[in-house]
Amino acid sequence: MSYRSIAIDGPSGAGKSTLAKALAQELGFLYVDTGAIYRTVGLAALERGIDPADAGGVAALLPDLSITMAYGENGLQHMFLDGEDVTGAIRRNEVSAAASKAAAIPAVRDFLMEMQRRAAREHDVIMDGRDIGTVVLPGADLKIYLTAAPEARAERRCRELRERGQQADFDQVLAEVLERDRRDSQREAAPLRQADDAVLADTTELDLEGSLRLLLELARTHLNLTGGEAHE
Ligand code: DC
Repeated sequence: MSYRSIAIDGPSGAGKSTLAKALAQELGFLYVDTGAIYRTVGLAALERGIDPADAGGVAALLPDLSITMAYGENGLQHMFLDGEDVTGAIRRNEVSAAASKAAAIPAVRDFLMEMQRRAAREHDVIMDGRDIGTVVLPGADLKIYLTAAPEARAERRCRELRERGQQADFDQVLAEVLERDRRDSQREAAPLRQADDAVLADTTELDLEGSLRLLLELARTHLNLTGGEAHE
């Protein structure tokens, strides 16, 4: 049996994970958050005192790491590092930068590739990340490049951090967003870019509901879904 896949790529803060999660629920697909997998490598480097930008140091660490994903009853993805549930820990702000640095290392990307592709071989998936449509699942049934203006993305990120009880300074968060965009899109290994056959979706002026409606419409059209599979 072959499974269907939707690839959603774009910069951080465009709403990928929130929308992908909601879309997955609507369609009954598995949501695979690949950023969480890179974040787990970033966390592992930080915990072991290795500079996440040190390609040699991080590559040497990989064979000793056990990184696994599991899905709870609510369909939420949990990440485990050496058996420990790190789902919450990988959301810390310093892990965002560490993940972005570790993700630029080709050995890290190779190490995580099979895990991502296996999920798509075994389930209908909505997978979000930076290189899903271009590298991980080039044959995806639908590719969406989701973006929004940097200021809108920084605003959303500030809200998210404050909701988690963390402090957030807009100017600092905007600078971090721009720095991460630069690193993710200018690296040599699988840089963030829109696949030639991806549909561009800009959510700067859209709220969550409007964005979800747009994505559902795209899914219906591209995957030939009938009403029962994708209900309003
Ligand atoms: O989506 P996120 O912010 O949780 O991702 C964390 C970092 O991982 C991000 O800076 C870029 C990197 N990443 C990547 O290089 N490729 C992916 N498929 C997903 C994430």
